[in-house]
Amino acid sequence: MSCPQKSSRRFFPLTVEKVPDEDEKLLQAKGFLGYTNLVRTNPSLVPLRPAYADLAESYYNFEFRSDDTVLLTFPKSGTTWLSEALWAVRNLGQLGQADEADIDERVFFLDSDFLQPAPPGADTPALRKFSAACPEGRVEDGVTLQMAAAQKGPRILKSHLQLELLNPDLLDTCKVVYMARNPKDVCVSYFHHCRKNTKKIFQGEFSDFAEAFMGNKLLFAPYWDHVRQVWLRRGHENLHFMFFEHMKRDVFGELKRLATFLEADLSDEDVRRVADHCSFGRMQEREQRQSQGRGPLYGVPGFFHKGEVGGWKAVASQDLNDRFDNWILDNNCGIDIPFTYE
Ligand code: A3P
Repeated sequence: MSCPQKSSRRFFPLTVEKVPDEDEKLLQAKGFLGYTNLVRTNPSLVPLRPAYADLAESYYNFEFRSDDTVLLTFPKSGTTWLSEALWAVRNLGQLGQADEADIDERVFFLDSDFLQPAPPGADTPALRKFSAACPEGRVEDGVTLQMAAAQKGPRILKSHLQLELLNPDLLDTCKVVYMARNPKDVCVSYFHHCRKNTKKIFQGEFSDFAEAFMGNKLLFAPYWDHVRQVWLRRGHENLHFMFFEHMKRDVFGELKRLATFLEADLSDEDVRRVADHCSFGRMQEREQRQSQGRGPLYGVPGFFHKGEVGGWKAVASQDLNDRFDNWILDNNCGIDIPFTYE
């Protein structure tokens, strides 16, 4: 592996600014203790972690290749599930490797560079690997971005960034899979994720979390822009649009359609092996074993919470549910993304 030279760069058409202190203070008062020094894109107003500011142009210029498979999701939409499925489709002969290396060692999670940037001067196994792969690379230019660039294909990459924050050539270059999940369950899953996170990202009430979600204040928001940007391009031959709820209802059928899209020649028995490999139980089991060495996945003990459809019903009051329904009506009006909620 060698680090590729930077070719001519495309102009990043947005600016990245600090989220106003008043907004952050309001969020912190509601329990968002981990929301500090955030930045946001302008004019699209996507809140992101501060390290994104220096990397925005690199994300926008990240070069995809024709043999890449790229997974895009809004957080908590089943990213980890589908990354495991994509990896299994591409690695059927060596599924046992999933026991040896956790998912982010097998699939490049591009956003790691601003979600969990390596602290300056740190000496970790990941950074040692980075120095070996990219001897001239600089940590501040993004470890995962450079490791991915240096990796021979075929690669599997994933990101929560909106389509419009990534290279505009993405869809015309390689296969892209998008998984959407209904916004009520996304919100509940996001709430548990932030509540249980060892970094105490959120310590407040669900109702406040839900208001922040609907108010587009959470990292990677606005939810609707995220889904809409891809939904409107769903006819593109390189794009496969999936729903979490369909995977739950008919995992075999969904994986078969996914394999066809990926042009992977899988028998029914192969598809069943992929389904078993990425079943909730198997993934939870692997995570429990692996977390003993490296701590919980994404810093969230019990990351595999329930993996169900309709979990919002147990958490949201009638009032909040009505607010959600109105918000969904307002935002889905005219685009009519066919979400299922139970
Ligand atoms: P819940 O919090 O509702 O349980 P992401 O990977 O995008 O962060 O999404 C996480 C959500 O996907 C969590 O939802 C998690 O339990 C669920 N999930 C992960 N793997 C799954 C699987 N194999 N089957 C069903 N749901 C799964």
